[in-house]
Amino acid sequence: MNPFHYGQIVKEEDFCQRPELDKKLAAEIKRGQNVYIQGERRTGKTSLICETIRKLRKTRMIYADLLEVKSSDDFVKRIVTAIIAMENSAGFADKIFRKFSHLRPVASVDPITGLPTFTLDSSVELKPDSIHGVADLILSYHSKTKPIVVVLDEFQDILNLGDARETLALLRSKIQFQSDIPYIFAGSIRNKLDGIFNDPESAFFKSAIPIQVGPIDKDRFQKFIINKFRIGKRRITADSLKTVFAVCFNIPGDIQQLCGALWDTTAYGADIADRQIPIALEQIFAHELKGYETILKIVSKQQLKLLIGLARLGGRAPMSSVFLKGSGIPQASSVQRALNRLMDLKIIFYYEDEYRFVNPFLRAWLLYKKL
Ligand SMILES: Nc1ncnc2c1ncn2[C@@H]1O[C@H](COP(=O)(O)OP(=O)(O)O)[C@@H](O)[C@H]1O
Ligand SMILES: [Mg+2]
Repeated sequence: MNPFHYGQIVKEEDFCQRPELDKKLAAEIKRGQNVYIQGERRTGKTSLICETIRKLRKTRMIYADLLEVKSSDDFVKRIVTAIIAMENSAGFADKIFRKFSHLRPVASVDPITGLPTFTLDSSVELKPDSIHGVADLILSYHSKTKPIVVVLDEFQDILNLGDARETLALLRSKIQFQSDIPYIFAGSIRNKLDGIFNDPESAFFKSAIPIQVGPIDKDRFQKFIINKFRIGKRRITADSLKTVFAVCFNIPGDIQQLCGALWDTTAYGADIADRQIPIALEQIFAHELKGYETILKIVSKQQLKLLIGLARLGGRAPMSSVFLKGSGIPQASSVQRALNRLMDLKIIFYYEDEYRFVNPFLRAWLLYKKL
């Protein structure tokens, strides 16, 4: 069995310990402090939160994923669904089903994860002010002996709502009186999440303390990866491991994906060296090809030139004359336009003075194809 996991949260022995972050987050939770956790995609935010809470004995988690949330009705229903899921795991499903009988909850089993899931009647629409009732309900579950933590993941997507301001204000007005209950807001799009907590105009201004989640400590994560390879009697050279980390820009989820492909494309007892990396990458390219082709279809010629330039020359100075020459784009103003468009399309993002690929394997593929 391939010991590398990506694209889902990792826990227990699949979770590489991050003691500093874990300690910090656990301390804030114990104080009832609200926290907002930010970091790029696949750096391990959700895993860290779930693993930290799992280790806090007795603490119960209400976990709502707000990815692509579309309306305040949808938002409230996701929280209700999260409460039902928590109650179900404690064996109180009947009670909660009765409480929400007007929403006609239906339980089913997710065919992929095997976990119970719940759906609510979509014809009953909840208004933003039903947040009050839901927040009161959360409070009613909280006690000193069985404390609650509320996790609102991908929280930045709440800004998609037409009535985002109203919803945020209502939420904030309730949360501020629940000083014992820690709320954890997590998100992957730095600027937007920052806006919610750092803009004096926002209802959530300075209402939670920030914790940044970046790459995992290199030494620790390298040891973790080496040990995983060892399960299949595979050894990886230090240099190759370095290359793997570099190809993936140190992002844990991408590193696990590439290591998973290295595992698949090598045999028991193999010594993994540099020459195996392109073979593993080819396996990933084959899986992701459709996505790359879609991107090629939607970007203009100029934007493609820029992407190839970023892949070859890096994203630190795309307006420099060296970059313009190297990428064959005549003017810096065209570069700026193309950068903006590619950021809108979420193909690249800007972080720490550098334009980066959202998916490092797209970069690797552009280099491999020699487009
Ligand atoms: N502590 C960790 N140890 C090992 N792998 C991790 C860890 N955190 C994240 N990962 C890798 O990253 C992937 C994405 O993790 P996730 O927690 O969903 O990240 P995020 O919420 O930041 O997008 C996981 O499937 C796993 O491959
Ligand atoms: Mg996440």
